[in-house]
Amino acid sequence: MIRVLPLDSALDRAAFTCGVPALDQYFHIQATQDAKRLIARCFVALREDRLLGYYTLSSASVPFSDVPPSLSRRLPRYPALPAIRIGRLAVDIRHQGQGLGGVLLADAIQRALRAEAPGFSIVVDAKDAQAAAFYRHHGFLELPSRPLCLLLPLGTIRKLP
Ligand SMILES: CC(C)(COP(=O)(O)OP(=O)(O)OC[C@H]1O[C@@H](n2cnc3c(N)ncnc32)[C@H](O)[C@@H]1OP(=O)(O)O)[C@@H](O)C(=O)NCCC(=O)NCCS
Repeated sequence: MIRVLPLDSALDRAAFTCGVPALDQYFHIQATQDAKRLIARCFVALREDRLLGYYTLSSASVPFSDVPPSLSRRLPRYPALPAIRIGRLAVDIRHQGQGLGGVLLADAIQRALRAEAPGFSIVVDAKDAQAAAFYRHHGFLELPSRPLCLLLPLGTIRKLP
């Protein structure tokens, strides 16, 4: 059984590697500092005590002019709209391709829907075209002006049974 929990600073993260040094380094060194300073919260996926992956959430805003027209038609024309950012998301290289990226994403969506300070969407800055493809596969929409920035509207998810 997989559990997704807030990162406990006592958790040993040294052996985690997703194959992208910047994402590993962030997790090993920076994640607990960012949590203490209220910059981002980090969540980890565990199977028994095995560390499988992590992601971070923080607040964000999206300029109204960047929102895809299919979506902006139904939104108020404020200069910027509140959103929730997945800053980083990574699965240990030994466990990739087993559905864990999807599990982390689903957990992030659930937490975003429950957040007391709402966001109209989840937003991500994909690190490259391959990461962007992962998010598109899960229904994220590209921002027309910035193809590596994608968003997933939460209003439509809330309506699902
Ligand atoms: C990208 C990453 C998080 C995906 O996690 P994963 O556990 O290997 O992916 P999953 O097994 O959950 O894949 C779920 C689905 O996404 C699809 N998918 C995975 N990577 C994909 C990609 N790059 N492009 C398109 N689809 C992709 C899978 O085919 C699968 O589809 P299905 O549900 O229809 O079978 C993982 O490979 C990783 O950590 N990579 C290194 C870090 C990284 O690039 N992070 C991206 C955020 S910046």
